[in-house]
Amino acid sequence: MDFNLTEEQQAIMETARDFADKEIKPVAAEYDQKEEFPWPIVRKLSELGFMGMIIPAKYGGSEVGNVALAVSLMEISRVCASTGVTISVHNSLLVNPLLKFGSEKQKQKYLPKLASGEWIGAYGLTESSAGSDAANQKTTAVKKGDRYIINGQKVWITNAGVADVIIGFAVTDKEGRKGNNISAFLIEKDFPGFSVGTHEKKLGIRASDTAELSFEDMEVPEENLLGEFNQGFKIAMDTLDGGRIGIASQATGILMGCLEESARYAKERKQFGKPIGAFEPIQWKIAEMAMEKDASRLLTLRAAHLKDIGVKHSQEAAMAKLFSSRAANKAAWNAVQIFGGYGYTKDYPVERFYRDAKITEIYEGTSEIQHIVISRPYLRD
Ligand code: CAA
Repeated sequence: MDFNLTEEQQAIMETARDFADKEIKPVAAEYDQKEEFPWPIVRKLSELGFMGMIIPAKYGGSEVGNVALAVSLMEISRVCASTGVTISVHNSLLVNPLLKFGSEKQKQKYLPKLASGEWIGAYGLTESSAGSDAANQKTTAVKKGDRYIINGQKVWITNAGVADVIIGFAVTDKEGRKGNNISAFLIEKDFPGFSVGTHEKKLGIRASDTAELSFEDMEVPEENLLGEFNQGFKIAMDTLDGGRIGIASQATGILMGCLEESARYAKERKQFGKPIGAFEPIQWKIAEMAMEKDASRLLTLRAAHLKDIGVKHSQEAAMAKLFSSRAANKAAWNAVQIFGGYGYTKDYPVERFYRDAKITEIYEGTSEIQHIVISRPYLRD
């Protein structure tokens, strides 16, 4: 058993850390306040190869794998969780299913543009009545000649307004058994009938793009069916097993940011003639953050490693997400408390971390859903 990163993973993590400190940290609060997508940052991350980390070299990627992706997402989310989720969704929710379920023709068409970051990816599963109950899809796809005609609406879609290609899910057999009646499609933003709707005003991750997608008699060529007909729900679930590692990495990153800022402030801020870090209640908070940061990181890297070696990781990814999202929220709550009145203002990043942390308990499966996924194998007859 080896807990060390490889030299390559370590170097990638350091590149991500360096870039996050020099290029993202100074501007993260401004993008958050303006609710603006950080295009210059995403373009630079693309140039550095962060959009093609799991894509094989023959399609233009670096194929460094999911552990490298996870540690990079942690370093980026440590300073900006909005950028973290943008990169996570592209890699884990679009590139990953395309690699696993795509035809050679689909891979050749899309992967080089996705690897370079010329194209950004998104994932369109959620609907107004299909959140936790994701199989309850209302969007339909009907075959007409050599195309599918798709009608429906998707909500709260990360990267919706900036994506060039989206994996979208639709019912293809209305009489079929739930979970076995949905297909997955590769949808391009220029397909007739595709439009982006209202952009959400959010509590946190305000620099990430979240919007509705509308499909009105949208025409999708038959060759854009992803994977097997009527097997789209399983593709959606399998994909989320990987996506949850991304959100666990994002949550771990937020926790790392909370710990760094809190420790620095606890040494600097003096009350009663001493740095506040000399007082036990502050030491306890710092210790809890440090312990839970390590536990989050280990659970997340275990799931990423299993993914890299091709082992099913539904439970491990759900555990990593459930634990790290809870720990990130606790850490952000304590970080604001350590900063006191200053923590409640926008002068310090912990206020943003506090708002950003909440979503990690909601998207890519709420904490309640993660409990279902984790407990199921124990309770099955
Ligand atoms: N991998 C592959 N197949 C799977 C699977 C997995 N992880 N989980 C389930 N399946 C299969 C099952 O084996 C089953 O197949 P059979 O019928 O052939 O046996 C089929 O899928 C249906 O499975 P279930 O009966 O378990 O389905 P369910 O309706 O009970 O749902 C659930 C299970 C875990 C609750 C699921 O609905 C779920 O994960 N819900 C949460 C949805 C979610 O995470 N949404 C996130 C949206 S994306 C997002 O948030 C992105 C973003 O913004 C960043």
